[in-house]
Amino acid sequence: MTLRIFDTVPDFEQDSTLGRFHFYDWLGSSWGVLFSHPKDFTPVCTTELGEVAKLIPEFSKRDVKVVGLSVDSVESHDAWSDDIAETQGVALNFPLIADHDRKVATLLDLIHPNASDTNTVRTVLVVDPAKKLRLTLTYPASTGRNFSEILRTIDSLQLTDRHKVATPANWQDGDDVIILPSLDDDAARQLFPDGWTTLKPYLRTVSQPTSD
Ligand code: BEZ
Repeated sequence: MTLRIFDTVPDFEQDSTLGRFHFYDWLGSSWGVLFSHPKDFTPVCTTELGEVAKLIPEFSKRDVKVVGLSVDSVESHDAWSDDIAETQGVALNFPLIADHDRKVATLLDLIHPNASDTNTVRTVLVVDPAKKLRLTLTYPASTGRNFSEILRTIDSLQLTDRHKVATPANWQDGDDVIILPSLDDDAARQLFPDGWTTLKPYLRTVSQPTSD
């Protein structure tokens, strides 16, 4: 199933390091990140899982739950987690789905046959509380992901869901933002009474809104 932005991410259940994993039940009303990795006991994946474990407090602050996935077994995930703790200095603190029969990988299109017939690619799905897909990234096996960038995109999604703004290139939380072009100046004055900078009629920047 090819998922596109704003499609509903389907529910599933599968084995995991925390027992039977029910996707929608686990998500509840939170945001979610599901990320797949090619294989247990591989070097790049080891660093990625350690990095995510370190960043779990940052995801939690944003009300985001995180789950990993590969086509390995629970026994393999459990054995590998010792290596992650030893080499990355942090224990796994989020579930890993053991997609041994590739049920979820097939459902979510996480195996790209021209890359590998058997292993999942490095895909990230960001899912909102309405279970809609809000962002997707796919990296090749040889390139570890930048999880700070994933936090940055979540900051942008959550901000732009609350306010009529968009975030510019390389935006970081606290930087100026862009007033949506769909707001004319009269409407913008109601929302941004302290004013803004007009670089072009379609490019108006304003301080990042702070309140809900
Ligand atoms: C890795 O995680 O290191 C890896 C996995 C599959 C292919 C290449 C690298």
